[in-house]
Amino acid sequence: MVETVTIARDVVLSVEHLSMRFGGLKAIDDLSFDVRRGEITALIGPNGAGKTTVFNCITGFYKPTEGMLTLKRKDGHAFLLERLPDYEIPARAKVARTFQNIRLFSGMTVLENLLVAQHNALMKASGFTILGLLGSSSYRNADEASIELASYWLERADLLDRADDPAGDLSYGAQRRLEIARAMCTRPELLCLDEPAAGLNPRESAELNVLLRFIRDQSDTSILLIEHDMSVVMQISDHVVVLEYGRKISDGDPESVKNDPKVIAAYLGVEDEEVEEVLVEVGDEQILEQLESVPVGDAAPQASASMFAPPVAGSIERDDGDAAASPAASKAAQVEKGATPATKKSGEEDK
Ligand SMILES: Nc1ncnc2c1ncn2[C@@H]1O[C@H](COP(=O)(O)OP(=O)(O)O)[C@@H](O)[C@H]1O
Ligand SMILES: [Mg+2]
Repeated sequence: MVETVTIARDVVLSVEHLSMRFGGLKAIDDLSFDVRRGEITALIGPNGAGKTTVFNCITGFYKPTEGMLTLKRKDGHAFLLERLPDYEIPARAKVARTFQNIRLFSGMTVLENLLVAQHNALMKASGFTILGLLGSSSYRNADEASIELASYWLERADLLDRADDPAGDLSYGAQRRLEIARAMCTRPELLCLDEPAAGLNPRESAELNVLLRFIRDQSDTSILLIEHDMSVVMQISDHVVVLEYGRKISDGDPESVKNDPKVIAAYLGVEDEEVEEVLVEVGDEQILEQLESVPVGDAAPQASASMFAPPVAGSIERDDGDAAASPAASKAAQVEKGATPATKKSGEEDK
């Protein structure tokens, strides 16, 4: 008998037809992708593409407007994250995250930050009572285990010698690693990192890479990473998903994504002439003519369409319907769609 369903490599998170609307703005539009177990998956795209919103849906901060987010644990249990109360997502589904802006208890020591993260296990062991916290042997055992786990991740994050210093005294790069160590102390099966390399110098960035590779190779945690820095993405990810205006424009291994004309045209920070070269290579002169005819104000990622560029004014359209992405703003869409009539006004599509 022929198998009709191919079960691909083990998937830890499956995002299916995810949409998230904020009033008239569709921040995520029918997005589907998989995060495979044991891999580092990178979610990339310019500011405002919807990356953090994806994380907020996965971790229960937002309830998605539509779609399914299935987390499959190693023991076979599956959780529909969009239906779980947000406090159960770390505890039961074993998803941990860090934020785009560092959130540590800066007055607490480095070690205390890691112990607080294990608060759930400690409270369970104490029977949720003060007496339990003070006296019981199970609490003492849990405490020892917590300190052991904290020390393990401190060492991996190269922070063991800073254990008793206030977290606020650490350098920026060290604080980033501490956040990751703290998340790892909850023993997650999926770790979501929102721009962990932002603002790091090259040495700190290299140290971060070492830590992330260690997590991938030596723990049971898979990583979903939002990243702006293409060198980080290319160096450490196994799988890259590219978002533009809430939609997926590319999905594959780093090499194929890097060479995808849509990604080059929209995101890799190339000059217009290079975009033209790519378009000539893919052989679409009509698109070239179109690009030339697009008034400057309408063409969002401009001359150097860089991933570091802020969202361009007017690139997100709001109307009484639900159109979010601006087709005129997207060189990627122009590459993909081919011969769209050049006369089509922005805002006429995707209603
Ligand atoms: N809570 C919110 N309310 C309204 N709009 C939001 C909210 N969160 C995000 N957005 C909008 O959704 C879009 C995607 O934002 P975000 O996910 O933060 O992008 P990214 O992380 O890729 O830079 C942006 O246009 C942003 O302004
Ligand atoms: Mg963001």
